[in-house]
Amino acid sequence: MLNQFCTKLFTGFIYFFILNSAVCVAQQAGKTDAIYSGVPWYDQNGNVVSAHGANIIRDNGKYYLFGEAHSDTSNAFAGFNCYSSTDLYNWKFESIALPLQPAGKLGPNRVGERVKVMKNPTSGEYFMYMHADTLGYKDQFVGYAISKNITGPYQFKGPILFNGKPIKKWDMGTFQDQDGKGYILTHGGVIHQLADDYQSIVAETNKQLTSGFESPTLFRKGNIYYFIGSNLTSWEKNDNYYYTASSLSGPWTAQGLFAPKGSLTWNSQTTFVLPVEGTKDTTFIFMGDRWSYPRQLSAATYVWQPLNILGTAISIPEYMQAWQVNTSTGEKTQFKGNFKVIENSNKSIHYKGKWLHVSDTTSISRATDKNDSFSYTFRGKQIGLYTLALPDNGYAKIVLQNKKGKLINQNLVDLYSKTPKIGLVYLSPILPHNDYTLRVFVAGERPNWSDKRKSNYGSTANTITIDKLIVRK
Ligand code: GAL
Repeated sequence: MLNQFCTKLFTGFIYFFILNSAVCVAQQAGKTDAIYSGVPWYDQNGNVVSAHGANIIRDNGKYYLFGEAHSDTSNAFAGFNCYSSTDLYNWKFESIALPLQPAGKLGPNRVGERVKVMKNPTSGEYFMYMHADTLGYKDQFVGYAISKNITGPYQFKGPILFNGKPIKKWDMGTFQDQDGKGYILTHGGVIHQLADDYQSIVAETNKQLTSGFESPTLFRKGNIYYFIGSNLTSWEKNDNYYYTASSLSGPWTAQGLFAPKGSLTWNSQTTFVLPVEGTKDTTFIFMGDRWSYPRQLSAATYVWQPLNILGTAISIPEYMQAWQVNTSTGEKTQFKGNFKVIENSNKSIHYKGKWLHVSDTTSISRATDKNDSFSYTFRGKQIGLYTLALPDNGYAKIVLQNKKGKLINQNLVDLYSKTPKIGLVYLSPILPHNDYTLRVFVAGERPNWSDKRKSNYGSTANTITIDKLIVRK
């Protein structure tokens, strides 16, 4: 009896140790060579890049990405992260530019979202703007913080004031015009002009255009201003739309959608447009968030696509799974890479548990029971997983190990989509050429949530589906 108990206790310890060591082991540093949408990105420490509701500014030849630091357990403010990059593919974690405050409006159990940074052209100081709120979204205002260094620490100052009053709006963005003037954008399409010192608001440049129009994003090409926003569907993706004007005060012309109808903006919500100006061309990068509530740290990803611009028409007609932008010339190209495709029916994929192999319009393998899994051993330097994302899909747990069993990379990925979509959902960092094993498990969880009106969103089951694997030789 006692012996059995001891054996159980010992086995329990071993499991505890294995599980925890898997979590604590430092993961392989991120290394990549293109912009891949919809997959977790890894920083120089092997941690997932957590920078949502983001913006990017270029400073001293480097790009700085600011975004919301998320957790997998709650929506409470966890700070705003800053990353840097020279190629826009590999991101180095710099700092928590504005950490969780000990108390106050960005203290514990508050919300902090849609962080945006601009450099004041006169003082040379960096200004950070954000949406601050309660966890239930009942005390919203646009706040600001200042730093002498781009990476922070930023000093939180509270609400930015217009005639002595805060701007009580939730979704917000910023825009810096060619003359250095700064603007605060809020949902509905309102634009406010900042004072020259960026520390208060001096004018309402544009009145509300419409209801909804969340995640307001504005950019300029030549003499045309483009104003993008989303519908109001919480973390769920929808078809975003835009307006154009030749002046920030309008009149604004509604231009409709810029991604194919029903693509839900290629399954993302806009947050910023970055012009990459080079010697030969300027590529405008549409930056969107593919949210994944509640696992926003592990499984929310980035959808960055080049925008086609022709006069007042902007579009993302196709989803570019992988592409490159040359930060010197400003030119963009589709990226193919030297990948071998392994279909889900390949005999070297070992399925464990109740898997169904379905051949409809696409051939997929699917499983729903927690811990059902498949594994694939390969020789190469990178592996990726394509899925058919579906409304009843949940999270998959990915574990990548080398031939000695050392953990290389572990992550949760989100296979849910409100409308069916084939796409890459996981891509390992580029690794030394060697033997590795990828294991993919049904996590037994799914993204789902309800908004302030108690409407339910998200997936209806925990299914995971595999379309194919890709291996880089
Ligand atoms: C979205 C908004 C996000 C976040 C979310 C919360 O519509 O754009 O920033 O506030 O709602 O449900």
